[in-house]
Amino acid sequence: MTAETNDIPAPRGSEASDQPGTAPVASGDNGAQSGRSGHPPGRPNNGGGSPGHGRRRRRRRRSEAQRGGGADLREGLTPVDLAARRLGIARLYEEQERVIANAMAGKDLLVVLPTGFGKSACYQIPSMILPKPVVVISPLLALLRDQHEKLLKRKIPCVRLDGTVRGKARREALEQIARGGSLLVMTTPETLGSQEGQAALRQSGASLAAVDEAHCISEWGHDFRPAYLQLGERLRALGAPPVMALTATATANVRADIVRFLALREPVVVSGSPHRANLAFEVLHSRGDARLRALIRFARRLRRPGIIYCTTTREVDNVFTALQMLRIPAHRYHGKMASNDRNHQQEMYMKAGRRTVMVATSAFGLGIDKPDIRYIVHYQSPASLEQYVQEAGRAGRDGQKANCILLYDEDDRAIHEALLQKSRVRPDQLYKLGRALAAWAAEGRTPNLEALALSAGQGPRITGALLAVLAEAGLVDLGEDGSITILEPAESIEERSRSLAGQFETLRTQDGRRMDSIAEYVFTGECRAVLLRRYFGEADGAPCGLCDVCRGRPERPSSFWEPIAQPERKRKKKRRGNRRRNKKKGGPAVAAEVLTSPLEPAGDGGEALLPIDELPLPADD
Ligand SMILES: Nc1ncnc2c1ncn2[C@@H]1O[C@H](COP(=O)(O)OP(=O)(O)OP(=O)(O)O)[C@@H](O)[C@H]1O
Ligand SMILES: [Mg+2]
Ligand SMILES: [Zn+2]
Repeated sequence: MTAETNDIPAPRGSEASDQPGTAPVASGDNGAQSGRSGHPPGRPNNGGGSPGHGRRRRRRRRSEAQRGGGADLREGLTPVDLAARRLGIARLYEEQERVIANAMAGKDLLVVLPTGFGKSACYQIPSMILPKPVVVISPLLALLRDQHEKLLKRKIPCVRLDGTVRGKARREALEQIARGGSLLVMTTPETLGSQEGQAALRQSGASLAAVDEAHCISEWGHDFRPAYLQLGERLRALGAPPVMALTATATANVRADIVRFLALREPVVVSGSPHRANLAFEVLHSRGDARLRALIRFARRLRRPGIIYCTTTREVDNVFTALQMLRIPAHRYHGKMASNDRNHQQEMYMKAGRRTVMVATSAFGLGIDKPDIRYIVHYQSPASLEQYVQEAGRAGRDGQKANCILLYDEDDRAIHEALLQKSRVRPDQLYKLGRALAAWAAEGRTPNLEALALSAGQGPRITGALLAVLAEAGLVDLGEDGSITILEPAESIEERSRSLAGQFETLRTQDGRRMDSIAEYVFTGECRAVLLRRYFGEADGAPCGLCDVCRGRPERPSSFWEPIAQPERKRKKKRRGNRRRNKKKGGPAVAAEVLTSPLEPAGDGGEALLPIDELPLPADD
């Protein structure tokens, strides 16, 4: 059995008790070419997007095509251009072109480009051109499935091989891989390590291995995955093809780990600023009831579509109800909803041209590729700046101005600490289990769960959870019948679980640091964009001129904190609806109370700011 994650990719600990979910459906065609402005997401729009620049680029590309032998002479298109078109991409960004050219030349690459930039195209395009398969390794089944479906629709040769592909489908997938040729093989680290997966790939050979979400390899990263630790070895077993490591957010430590663990050979680094110049960052200190009022005022004033992120499912429900009461068109999304309801809400929100608000936990993320999102409000602070930048980065992908507002209350930290406490592996327990396994291995016996739990001096539930971690790291194999096979010799299993425990220890320390980084961002006296760039290892650059710090944090009028009047029209009908709902839950009544009863003006830390859309815009906006 494998330990692949079949989860919605919510950052660890971000949602109290989320069920493993189905992949949210990314609706519509995400090609997003004609509708997009010339600004690549994640890149400042003051440089690359001018029409003059585009013309220069086209001219240059044509002459390259004429030189290159494989060009389509009628249109002057290179094989890369043609492959891009098959993906629905009219024009590649400069960074993508650079990555693809280096990959096709057999160089190792470290690609750090913001979320939604279009990193997938960097390996999808070579897979259509290179003679042998391109293998992409991803930590999340949902991501693989999503991408696989999109490529199949476009008739791009690809095959998915992970733990959920079984029986006949698996045999066919393995045969297709073994036949080789230009093909994208999409897999997980666990399946890549499986014997049949390795055998098929050794038969076909690989032109390139792309490691997606490469930050998962590092215990300094926010989403460490033990299975990633063995990737280096597994790639060597495949004949050490050129490697492309891709991630959206990587600090200097994480970058160093990626290079070391994947054994990248003098990698070409292609990175872009994690922040886009069209995003206006703002932090508003608000506590208690003032928070919901501030949120509602934003939701009323800011242009939609928008996303409101909350930490817990309960907050999502509360905020959603409040928006409904005020007749602000809203959807919601969290892990405690039935998956078809959740998917339906997402589909409705994603419809092109729809101007609604999505209230969600961080479970809402995968496949969110709506170009015209105008604001992201964080109703509570996220657990890390990595998470914040990823979520805020869903706004303004069309290059138009968008607001990223964080409603900050220092008490939010306690919630994250509690959630992380629950979700993180305890290093000492992991080590104890490793020692117990070593004892069983030394005797050449295989334990069952109860016996193992007993010898490790831990409960069976905890032991089961820890075993899953050891399985992901490739130390044990867990059979579907409950059998536990020890894969390492007794001498090394103790050592390896000790080192794994050490990595989780680092992760725990880092959790605290990451939470500190949110506070640094909140209380900074310098441009927020500059701070974000530095945090992710980019040169500081010029202040953005858009964030609240650059604008000098103007005062909000006291009316900003006053109770919010409910809309007059249709009030009668609405009230009836509320009463009915009140019987079931306490939520709406609470929300109504907070919104409409008088409130003290924001007290300590309740800094007042002008609503952002009442501020003068910079000249170039
Ligand atoms: N050059 C381009 N022009 C326009 N759209 C593009 C371009 N390249 C990619 N896209 C589109 O951008 C969207 C996001 O791409 P992709 O999923 O590859 O992002 P990503 O960088 O992998 O983000 P994440 O870090 O969130 O995984 C896709 O719909 C893709 O079709
Ligand atoms: Mg991606
Ligand atoms: Zn700024």
